[in-house]
Amino acid sequence: MNTTAPAVHAQLGDESSIWFKLSALVRGNPDNPMDTLRQMSERYGPVIVVNMASQRVVFLSEPDHFKHVLVTKADNYIKYFDGLKPIFGKSMITNDGALWQKIRMPQQPAFHPDMFAEYIPYFVTAIRTKMDNWAELARTGETVEMVEQTWTLAADMICKALFDRDMPFNPHFVFKCVKTYTDVMNHKEIRLKKQADEFFEVSEADTAKAVEAWWSVPPAVMAADPREHRERTLLKMIEAAIADPARPEFDEQQAIDEIKQYLWAGTETTALTLAWALYLLSNHPEAAERVRQEGQSVIGDRDPTADDYAALQYTRSVIQETMRIYPPVWGLIRVASEPDMIGGKEIKPGDRVVVFGYGAHHNPKFWDEPEAFRPERWMDKTKKQVKYSYIPFGAGKRSCIGGAMSQVENTLALSILLRRFRPEYVGQNPAGINATVTLTPKGGLNFKIRELS
Ligand code: HEM
Repeated sequence: MNTTAPAVHAQLGDESSIWFKLSALVRGNPDNPMDTLRQMSERYGPVIVVNMASQRVVFLSEPDHFKHVLVTKADNYIKYFDGLKPIFGKSMITNDGALWQKIRMPQQPAFHPDMFAEYIPYFVTAIRTKMDNWAELARTGETVEMVEQTWTLAADMICKALFDRDMPFNPHFVFKCVKTYTDVMNHKEIRLKKQADEFFEVSEADTAKAVEAWWSVPPAVMAADPREHRERTLLKMIEAAIADPARPEFDEQQAIDEIKQYLWAGTETTALTLAWALYLLSNHPEAAERVRQEGQSVIGDRDPTADDYAALQYTRSVIQETMRIYPPVWGLIRVASEPDMIGGKEIKPGDRVVVFGYGAHHNPKFWDEPEAFRPERWMDKTKKQVKYSYIPFGAGKRSCIGGAMSQVENTLALSILLRRFRPEYVGQNPAGINATVTLTPKGGLNFKIRELS
């Protein structure tokens, strides 16, 4: 088993990387880099081919074209993961074709909606730990960065519910390590400063150390004592796959990489959604109050159940609306493997294709007042959504395995936390955004935690 970090892993900031190229493109508006891409698609149409240092990059912003790439011709558009390999290894999310299917299949049952009722008590235990922590923060009055707060919660929920473990690592440290690596803007800054022979804040040695710390996490999860020795957990399914001679592809390194994947793909996105939701609710106190009232009338003072989750319609709509406005995965990247035509434009093998979900989420053609935060729009059953105009979890066979589960986690977290606390956003308003691999708040989201009397 190889648990050593790769020697060189600056690919995210390498000039050949799509992330490096995109970071240059999205710098037009420093507070909302998505604006540049939206303006480009308004001006040049739904399929834009840009030549960036001999690499063709194709931007798509029409739902029909999303469907073409992600569903109809999904096999001709393969996953792009350069630069993210140190984070995800050779896990399911990075693979294609038959191998991807063989890796996904034994894990799929852990994400069936029937499992959610089993997971809810563990989500609630993690939320209560966060509440104890917030009670202390409310007492001291210190300012906290919310994505770090919600990441530690999301990681705890995954460890407890899916792995039957208490987090066998310091979540604040691990969070900072991976952020050091994935912040593409930082990588670019490092490169530019290096060229200018300046002092730079995050060195390549720092990123190497960060990745090394990250690589130590999955073996720690596997070695940690189970909390309750439950039989039906994702970790048990992964262990069974390793032991199954009919699955030679599922070796121990595969297991390590799958755990890595869940601890980032399954946590950062969930954490960003909850943090952005709290930011939106801090700016819309009437909506926060409605979340509180719904929690009071649906759950009251009991522990929540799967039926309660189904009944928390408004709170769930807040989460859905948050992912429309701030989709954690703002664009999906694919590499064309075959010649093709999209919207009358030629696609060549090797082209990097960017499915610009954020663009569709903010397009007035598909949404009334797209910039307005209106959770109610999700409760209006008379309005039909244009298919593929909302793709926070991707689409087609490669869509998110944990999307439905993340909505349970976040809906319950929002409902329970807001019943006791009023998290107050104290940062720059409106918050700026960074378009790195995910859509992150620029400089974080600073909050003070207030306890309701
Ligand atoms: C708000 C929360 C989440 C968002 C917005 C989100 C978003 C996404 C998106 C957009 C994809 C597709 C990527 C692509 O097509 O290139 C994806 C895939 C994936 N997600 Fe999520 N995700 C979330 C939560 C989770 C959770 C909770 C888990 C698991 C614990 C998870 C695990 C995965 C995995 C394993 C894949 C790869 C699936 C495959 O390739 O077959 N995600 N996610």
